[in-house]
Amino acid sequence: MKAYELQPREGFDALTLVERPSPALGANDVRVRVRAASLNYRDLSVARGAKKRERPIVPLSDGAGEVVEVGAGVKTFAPGDRVAASFFPTWQDGPLSAAHHAAALGGGQDGMLAEEVVLPASAWIRLPAHLSLEQGATLPCAGLTAHHALFEAASTKPGDVVLVQGTGGVSIFGLQLAKAAGARVIVTSSSAAKRERAKALGADEVLDYRADPKWGDSARALTGGRGVDVVIEVGGPGTFDQSSAALRFGGTMSLVGVLTGLKGEVSTYSILHKTLHVAGIYVGSMAMFERFVRALEATRIEPIIDKVFAFGDARAAYSHLASGAHFGKVVVRV
Ligand SMILES: NC(=O)c1ccc[n+]([C@@H]2O[C@H](COP(=O)([O-])OP(=O)(O)OC[C@H]3O[C@@H](n4cnc5c(N)ncnc54)[C@H](OP(=O)(O)O)[C@@H]3O)[C@@H](O)[C@H]2O)c1
Repeated sequence: MKAYELQPREGFDALTLVERPSPALGANDVRVRVRAASLNYRDLSVARGAKKRERPIVPLSDGAGEVVEVGAGVKTFAPGDRVAASFFPTWQDGPLSAAHHAAALGGGQDGMLAEEVVLPASAWIRLPAHLSLEQGATLPCAGLTAHHALFEAASTKPGDVVLVQGTGGVSIFGLQLAKAAGARVIVTSSSAAKRERAKALGADEVLDYRADPKWGDSARALTGGRGVDVVIEVGGPGTFDQSSAALRFGGTMSLVGVLTGLKGEVSTYSILHKTLHVAGIYVGSMAMFERFVRALEATRIEPIIDKVFAFGDARAAYSHLASGAHFGKVVVRV
């Protein structure tokens, strides 16, 4: 089978198309012919760190395809089923552990940018019937993370105000899911064209986080001074304090991202002063994924795909994501 590997080279040149033997199938495994994979910001970091790896790895956590073969002990899937894999294949329920983290797809173990992937049946989930395989390939990381941030770590309700930062994969899922739950949504974006697209997708208010460095105060003002109920915080240290400023007393900051770095100075006082809940989010468990899929089936939300690249153009897909020009998700057809 054909697969991409990240080999020890600089930049996205590390991405190399290779021939690999088809993976072996155990009694509890499911073999999937991958038809689409999607990129996340995390995959850029993994590619940039490829030089430090001891062995090449197949990248990307997110992919979807059709079951082609099941092991003798598998009763839950049959050939032809349309499935996606879980970002953390061993994290079924309960808290995340170091062992689950070490087994993440496209990080700790080979990922989805390959024609065939074999994983235990417990790592696969059936896709909602209304989604294409390309749309299904966007669910495992960005989609589930947004679901976790809004409905597992927070309890977003009709009438709540939700703020999402930027217009990347997680945030656009956050916009769609929060609107479907009856929330009012504020979107921040540095691009006028993307702010218009966000409005067309249902954003109630938009803010320009570049032109307005105090966008958190502006968001609070938009709520009549009360503050927003939930922020999906994808920026990290550089946006943390404005997220605190945006939130209402007792509101929840779902801490997801690292777009401005991994550490920095933040106001801990505003957390205690406003009795905020700061929740660390790391994608999600299979139990959360199942609830997320049910929510998609009920709402018939369709993921927003910015661009689909051919398998041979995977490097171009990485460059496109890195450019920040995208709105929603970037997909590679396999
Ligand atoms: N913890 C987890 O489980 C988890 C899961 C998924 C993602 N993440 C993290 O979440 C972040 C977003 O991931 P993604 O895959 O959705 O990324 P993405 O699709 O690449 O989105 C990036 C977008 O974020 C916006 N942005 C960049 N800098 C910003 C800033 N300083 N303030 C506000 N918005 C900013 C930009 O939107 P505009 O162009 O509209 O300005 C940019 O297009 C990353 O740090 C990623 O590592 C974490």
